[in-house]
Amino acid sequence: MTSETLPTTSTEVCFAGYPKDVVRPEHFTVRQTLVDEPGPGQVLVRNDFMTLAAAYRDQMTPATNIPIPVFQLGQPMWGRTVGTVVRSNSPNLAVGDLVEHFHGWREYAVGSAAEFHKRDRALLPGAEYYLTQGPTAWRGMVEMANVGDGDVVFVSGATSGVGSLAGQIAKLLGAKRVIGSTGSKSKAEYLLRECGFDAVFDYHDGPVVDRLRELAPDGINVFFDNVGGEQFEAAVAAAAPFARFALCGSLSGQLETGGSGGHPRLDLMTAIPKQLILRPFATYHTPEQIDGWNKQFSIWLRDGRIAFPHTIVPGGVADLPANFLALLERRFTGNVIAKLS
Ligand SMILES: NC(=O)c1ccc[n+]([C@@H]2O[C@H](COP(=O)([O-])OP(=O)(O)OC[C@H]3O[C@@H](n4cnc5c(N)ncnc54)[C@H](OP(=O)(O)O)[C@@H]3O)[C@@H](O)[C@H]2O)c1
Repeated sequence: MTSETLPTTSTEVCFAGYPKDVVRPEHFTVRQTLVDEPGPGQVLVRNDFMTLAAAYRDQMTPATNIPIPVFQLGQPMWGRTVGTVVRSNSPNLAVGDLVEHFHGWREYAVGSAAEFHKRDRALLPGAEYYLTQGPTAWRGMVEMANVGDGDVVFVSGATSGVGSLAGQIAKLLGAKRVIGSTGSKSKAEYLLRECGFDAVFDYHDGPVVDRLRELAPDGINVFFDNVGGEQFEAAVAAAAPFARFALCGSLSGQLETGGSGGHPRLDLMTAIPKQLILRPFATYHTPEQIDGWNKQFSIWLRDGRIAFPHTIVPGGVADLPANFLALLERRFTGNVIAKLS
């Protein structure tokens, strides 16, 4: 393969300040940097697509408990990215290879070949399909909640990257009814139309527990929680005996300034008699988790059984801060993927 001309500069986004509450443009700096020639054992990669996700908000908070390194002041930010090798000084990667890595928020990345994981261009319909939240959705729905035939499932934050796949996985593995919550009518319609949810409600429309009791009169057997707060408390109240809870995220606590979403109350005198099974979990994206999901995803896509709920945001690296702010304002649906090249 002919290698492209080596770029001399690369645009990158650096972390410029810890937000006290609301994230603002001044928390980011966009700058030009010189592109280094790769050294021995290194590669130079042109970044093609990068994930945008709520978790970056946690990485802007030094005291966060999430198991991902926080951003460092004055340093380039990082995040899950796929790109194309444009120079290689490693026998393990060739020019033109598709690679997944964490050197996001920049046009070009240089580093040891070991930091860049080769992906098969033929397995999935496009490079961006490697940036799903599928490993987490699978781990929660399958390994934590053990979803199966006849289950009545509730997914909170159902249009998030994780939630929009978790609901589909439940349906594909035999759930009888999948209910989702989201924050707008248009997103609710999207889940019904594109993702096969059986019922969706807008969490602004009155008490969540009332919506759940209407939509699941015999109770929910599986709860996949991305939101916490009121939605968690409502799921406890509306759960069937022995319901399994996969506790994935706390969007209301993570993204609402001063919100109590991260500290929902667990009503023990409801949870104990129902013998609820609560499984908080963290996905570390092991090679096995990633490969397992990508293979399963490719089969379901090939057979036309799953949708890839996603929004591609244009604008390249310079627009990443603005697009991340738009994500925090809930403007996107599904897995949010920034096009970088
Ligand atoms: N446990 C793990 O291993 C693991 C791994 C990855 C991610 N996570 C967690 O899983 C959750 C989902 O992650 P993601 O990357 O898929 O999210 P995402 O795509 O970034 O989610 C964005 C969506 O969250 C919803 N949202 C924002 N604020 C909300 C609020 N106050 N209440 C309810 N919904 C709100 C909005 O949808 P609406 O318009 O519908 O409100 C928004 O469009 C996050 O909590 C994340 O930290 C956990």
